[in-house]
Amino acid sequence: MAIWSNNYHGSMNEKAFQFNASIDADARLVYADIAGSIAHAKMLGHTGIIPADEADALVNELGKMNDELQDGTLAIDFSEEDIHSFLEAELTRRLGAIGKKVHTGRSRNDQVATALKLYAVSELDHLTTLAANVVLALSEKAEQHLETIMPGYTHLQRAQPITFAHHLMAYAEMFLRDKSRLEDNLERLLHYMPLGSAALATTTLPLDRAYTAEALGFKDFSQNSLDGVSDRDYSLELLADMSIIMVHISRFAEEIIIWSSQEFGFVKLRDTFSSGSSIMPQKKNPDIAELLRGKSGRVFGDLMGVLTLMKGLPLAYNKDMQEEKELLFDALDTVIFCLEIIPPMLGDMDVNAEAMLTASQKGYLNATDCADFLVEKGVPFRDAYQITGNILQECEDNNLTLEDFPLEMYKKHSDAFDEGIYKKVDLKECVVRRNVAGGPAPERVKEHIDAVKEKLKDY
Ligand code: ARG
Repeated sequence: MAIWSNNYHGSMNEKAFQFNASIDADARLVYADIAGSIAHAKMLGHTGIIPADEADALVNELGKMNDELQDGTLAIDFSEEDIHSFLEAELTRRLGAIGKKVHTGRSRNDQVATALKLYAVSELDHLTTLAANVVLALSEKAEQHLETIMPGYTHLQRAQPITFAHHLMAYAEMFLRDKSRLEDNLERLLHYMPLGSAALATTTLPLDRAYTAEALGFKDFSQNSLDGVSDRDYSLELLADMSIIMVHISRFAEEIIIWSSQEFGFVKLRDTFSSGSSIMPQKKNPDIAELLRGKSGRVFGDLMGVLTLMKGLPLAYNKDMQEEKELLFDALDTVIFCLEIIPPMLGDMDVNAEAMLTASQKGYLNATDCADFLVEKGVPFRDAYQITGNILQECEDNNLTLEDFPLEMYKKHSDAFDEGIYKKVDLKECVVRRNVAGGPAPERVKEHIDAVKEKLKDY
């Protein structure tokens, strides 16, 4: 029997009841909902809306239910409509008339909004830690490759020499921003405690919302009751935060897939993070990286789903909003799994520094440095650019690199060349000299890693 059953309302068609029920999805809100009810019951006692001893009984019993659910002595009854109905029914079964008082001055509309927000708070916290772990794993790997030269690309064409550490730390920056986006979201969410909005228009009972907000760890309560029950912005923000995280994960996964191809051969995923083919015995496929890339589509879909769900809803609560939870939970489960898998995968990714260096030696990654050499000798940049272009053509015709192009041949292109050009085009030198803040010079990247580690020292 639904908690709203009464003589005025007849009973529901069985299929309709199943269709209407959400307990399969919202069972995971159970502890958040108990926390919301405990704060509400305390407030009811504190304000004298119900007698203090009855409030104590409610708080006590809810605490017991919490423990019993945790140790498995109390099981959720999945034939109830939703988790809120289950908890109220159970409380009433245990406390009789007193149990029925827990819903005083409350509706499931503000109850579900509160439970979902409390749940989001703990998930935001979890995601923040996981993002920090990914940053730390990237920093650790980067530290081992401060001097591992690799080609830096634009348009997926070799462009200038960088280091593997510099490349990894670009991702560390992305995940750091993800972390700060989650923190912003949490800060905003904590200013909108919905409980006390009741169904849509508060209640005539003298609720103390500041008391409840504080009891639940919020910084403030929502200032408009219609908004209180129908706000799902924090959830959209969380889905957007997670979608951006997945963009970053997907880009990184894509690079790992490319790097582990035989064409690149920059990295090798150990057997722990690759799988085989059922027909081709030689295959080692980067399935895990591919799934990390693929899961992004799913999370974007969840975001799009909730955006679409919310966009046409009149105020205040509408049942459509029940659907939002499943999409949010799906995205949370997906993103949490993806973030968890990256640190161990990075650990089991072997880097082929030799292949990265060989690739860097082809494609004239030091051409800009050759032009810079001339610029330092007073040649205008545009002329230096042209002269270097001519030299590259001659290198190509003679199958030479800028490192082994003879000095007499350099001199034919410009008097400004001398022995110093060989130091200038040495790949290691090229990287070491890119010493501008934010650049690939090992010393700069090391500073960056140290700063990041310092920032995350509490994780
Ligand atoms: N299971 C519902 C949900 O998740 C609870 C709120 C029900 N409120 C209502 N007015 N029917 O949205």
